[in-house]
Amino acid sequence: MSDIMRTLTVNLGDRSYPIHLGEDVLTRVGELLRQAACGEKVGIITNPTVAGLYMRPVEEALSRSRFKVTPLLVPEGEEHKSLESLSAIYDRLISERFERNSSLMALGGGVIGDLTGFAAATFLRGIPYIQVPTTLLAQVDSSVGGKTGINHPEGKNLIGAFYQPRLVLIDVGVLRTLPQREFLAGLAEVIKYGIIEDPELFGLLEEKLDRLLTLDRDLLVKVVAASCAIKARVVEKDEREEDYRSVLNFGHTIGHALESLTGYEKFLHGEAVATGMAQAASISMRRGFCDEESHRRIHKLIMRAGLPTKIPSNIDPLELVRRMEVDKKSTGGKVKFICCAGIGRNRFHWLSPQEITAELRLIDG
Ligand SMILES: NC(=O)c1ccc[n+]([C@@H]2O[C@H](COP(=O)([O-])OP(=O)(O)OC[C@H]3O[C@@H](n4cnc5c(N)ncnc54)[C@H](O)[C@@H]3O)[C@@H](O)[C@H]2O)c1
Ligand SMILES: [Zn+2]
Repeated sequence: MSDIMRTLTVNLGDRSYPIHLGEDVLTRVGELLRQAACGEKVGIITNPTVAGLYMRPVEEALSRSRFKVTPLLVPEGEEHKSLESLSAIYDRLISERFERNSSLMALGGGVIGDLTGFAAATFLRGIPYIQVPTTLLAQVDSSVGGKTGINHPEGKNLIGAFYQPRLVLIDVGVLRTLPQREFLAGLAEVIKYGIIEDPELFGLLEEKLDRLLTLDRDLLVKVVAASCAIKARVVEKDEREEDYRSVLNFGHTIGHALESLTGYEKFLHGEAVATGMAQAASISMRRGFCDEESHRRIHKLIMRAGLPTKIPSNIDPLELVRRMEVDKKSTGGKVKFICCAGIGRNRFHWLSPQEITAELRLIDG
C-alpha cells in the first residue's frame, strides 16, 4: 500500500462505505474490490478518452485478483449521460449475464459516475457499483454521496436516484493527464468547501495554491481528502437533500442559471459556480452576513485560481432570473439561497429571483 493512502468512511448505517485515496490506487483496485467482497463479474464503464489512458492498468489489476472484466464504452461528452447510453448498458449487462452480485465500476469523470450509478441502481433493482473518479470534480464531489442520474432533453439530471456506491477509489495520480481547465473547474468545488465549512482548508488553499497547481502529490491528497471528508459529513447529516445538504449549492443558484443561459457551452460547471460563489459572497456582504475581509479573501482566491468572478456584461440579469425560476430547487417563488457568513460558515436565506436580480444589477451594472 502506498504510504500516503488514506481511508475515510461515509457513515450511513448499512449503506456505509469507504473512500480509499492516495497515489497508485488504480493498480490496487483488484485487492480493494476483493476486500469489499465484490462478486467475480465487473463491468468497467468508461469513455474512449479515459479508456485510452487508464483501462489497461485497471483491467490488469482486476484480472490479477481473478475478476472477470467486461469493458463498456460510452461515447465522450455530457450529451451521452442519456437514456440511449443507459439502454445500451442494460443490453450489454443482460447479454453478458450480469447477476445480483456482479458490479459496475465507473472509471471517469462525473458524467460516467452519474450514468454508471444510475445503471447500477436500476439493473436487477440494484447491483453494487464502485466509483473510480478521474477528474478533480468527480474526486471531490460527484463520486461521494450517491446522487446518480441521467439528463433529459428538457433538462439536466431530471431522471435519477439516490444510490450509494460500495466503494470509492481515488487515485490523485490520474489528475496529471486532466486538462488544466478541467482541473481548475474542479478546484472551484474545493474552494466552495472551504468557504461553507472549513476555514482551515480555505487557509491552506490561500497559502499553497501555487504548489497545488503543480499537482504536488501530498498536497493533492490532503486537499482531496479534506474535501471528501466535508462532502461525507454533509451527506451523513442529510443523505437525500431534505435540508442541510443544500449548503453544497453555495454558488450554484447563480451558477446553474449562468450555465443554462449560455447553453452549457461557454462555461464549465466549476467556472459558472466560481462566478456564482463570488456573486453570492457579494450578496452575503451586502445583506450583512459576511464581513468585508472574508468577502475580499473569497474574491481573491477565486481569481488567483484563474476562475471567473463576474457575470459577463452581455448577459441579461432578467434572463438569469427566468432560469432561476425554472430551477427545480425553487419553492413558492423563493430560492433557498446559500450565503456565506464569513470563511467556513454558511447560512440559508430565502430570496426571490427578483431580489437576486436586483443584487446582481447592483454588482455588475
Ligand atoms: N452526482 C453528483 O453529486 C454530481 C455532482 C457534481 C456534478 N455532477 C455531474 O458531473 C458531470 C460533470 O463531471 P466532470 O466535471 O467530471 O466532467 P466529465 O465527466 O465530462 O469529464 C470532463 C472531461 O475530462 C475527461 N477526463 C476525465 N478524466 C480524465 C483524466 N484523468 N485525464 C484526462 N482526461 C480526463 C473526460 O473524458 C471529459 O472529456 C455533470 O454531468 C454533472 O451533472 C454530479
Ligand atoms: Zn457543483
